Formats: sequence, C-alpha cells, structure tokens
Amino acid sequence: MSTQAGHDEEYRWHTGAKRPHGAKDAVEFIDVHKAFGRNKILRGLNMGIPEGKISMILGPSGTGKSVCIKHMVGLLYPDQGDVLVHGESVPNMEDDELFKMRQKFGVLFQDGALFGSMNVWDNTAFPLRQHTEKSEEEIGEIVNRRLAEVGLQNAHDKMPNELSGGMRKRAGFARALVLDPDIVLFDEPDSGLDPVRTALLGELIQEIHEDMMNEAQRRGTPPPAFTLITHDIMTARRVAEHISVLWKGRIVESGPAAELFESDNQFVRQFLAGESQGPLGME
Ligand SMILES: Nc1ncnc2c1ncn2[C@@H]1O[C@H](COP(=O)(O)OP(=O)(O)OP(=O)(O)O)[C@@H](O)[C@H]1O
Ligand SMILES: [Mg+2]
Repeated sequence: MSTQAGHDEEYRWHTGAKRPHGAKDAVEFIDVHKAFGRNKILRGLNMGIPEGKISMILGPSGTGKSVCIKHMVGLLYPDQGDVLVHGESVPNMEDDELFKMRQKFGVLFQDGALFGSMNVWDNTAFPLRQHTEKSEEEIGEIVNRRLAEVGLQNAHDKMPNELSGGMRKRAGFARALVLDPDIVLFDEPDSGLDPVRTALLGELIQEIHEDMMNEAQRRGTPPPAFTLITHDIMTARRVAEHISVLWKGRIVESGPAAELFESDNQFVRQFLAGESQGPLGME
C-alpha cells in the first residue's frame, strides 16, 4: 500500500474517535510509532486509559495490544511519539524515575509469568520483597489477604505446575495487586479458561476494582485504572466500562463501552459482534 489512496482505504474505518469518558487519563499514548525492523506495529497510536474505570483494549491478534502494555511500563520505547503515565513521559524517565513509576503498576503478562521455582505464596510475596522494605509479618498479612480474595487460601504451598490454568491466572492476579497499584494491566486474563471460570474471573475483577476504588478514595490516591486485554466479547460486554478498539496500529474508535456496542462503525460492529462478514478478513 504505497499510494495515498491505498493508505486512505486501509484506514477508512479509523475515525480515531475518542468519545468523552468523563475522567482523567491515567495513561496516554500520543502519536506513538513503533516498528520491529520493517514490521510497523504502532502507526500513530492515540489512546487514553481512563482513571477509575475498567477499560478494555480489543483488537485482532498480532495488532500490537501486548506491545502497548510493554510501552506503558517502559519495557519498550516508542520510535516516535510519547507515552504518559499520570502526565509524565515514560520514554524520558531516568532509571530511578522508571523504577518508581513501575510501582504504580500491577501487571499480569499474557504468558502468565509465575516463577516456576517458587510456590504460590512466594510468587505473590515477590513484588513486596523486591520493591518494599516491609517486614515479613506485614508481607504475610497482605499476601494472605490477596490470596484469600482470589480463592487460593488453600493453595499457598502449591507450585505453579501443580495448578490449573484458572488457578494460575488467579495467582498472577493476586501477585499483580499486592503493591496496591494505581494502574492494573491484565493481558488476556481469561485465555484458556472455560466459560464459567471466565465469567467468575470477570466478577472477581469487578469486585476487586470496586474495593480498590473505595480504598483509593479513603487514601486520597488516584482511582485505579484497570485495563484488560481480551478476545472474549462476553467478558467485554459484562465487565468493560471503556473500550478502545485497536487495528493496524491505530485506534478505530474508543469510548464508553455502551456507546461502542452501539457504534455504527462497520469494523467496530463486526469485531464486537464476532462476525465473519465485514472489513476484517483473514489477511
Ligand atoms: N520484541 C519484539 N520483537 C519483534 N517483534 C515483536 C516484538 N514484540 C512483538 N512483536 C511483533 O509485534 C506484533 C504485535 O505483537 P503483540 O504481541 O503486541 O500482538 P497482540 O495484539 O498482543 O496479539 P494477540 O492478540 O495474539 O496476543 C507481532 O507481529 C509480533 O510478532
Ligand atoms: Mg497479546
């Protein structure tokens, strides 16, 4: 696609609309470009992740969703453009600022990433031991509470390879929350789970988000921004408050979930309905 006409055609569904969501953005992507060699992944991405909401990034496989998450925590840097977390530019941070900034995040990476050599309890305690000066007693209280929340109070001593996929996800979830993050990133928390476990995980995410909202209000810290990447449209329907639809390295549309589910954009409609007919093919 080298001609301007071809380019326009490629982006004809990308209105880039940022429908107002009535909150501040915890994370902002500003005209971000990122390529790996000749493989252009992000191509002028403008996206906001609102504070205080459960938001979802939806889009076809290979479109750059996981790459986005890595930009937010400074594991990847844009070739062009900027990524702001609470208004501060991640690519311009010094190492010590980056280290501090990462403590605002709780992340569940797509590949699960429990340490295979540690049991569930130690896995969950790891960020606290790594990033805080807390005593083992304080750590114990936090870890026990978070593991109970996700229903793993009887699995403290289990090794990751002894867990079912769903239990592993919940352990990763508990670990992502132990530092009381302002921004929580879940990359496909529901992949590989049966429909009932997926629904339960969605409810768990909503409950914990609500608890953390109340907690943040008590403490006067920013209301937590939850961001989920999922391919499960049912999860999006049930749980999402804000949706960003990403395709070909840019936002097609973003905004309050209810509005996106009513969008008359053909790509958004096709994707949110999971239909085979529409602008998205196998390509
Ligand atoms: N570190 C890297 N080096 C080279 N290429 C990469 C790297 N990370 C990602 N890519 C490429 O970037 C593209 C987007 O990858 P990404 O993992 O973000 O997709 P995704 O939207 O998360 O897809 P899925 O829904 O399948 O998880 C892919 O073509 C991938 O091969
Ligand atoms: Mg991914």
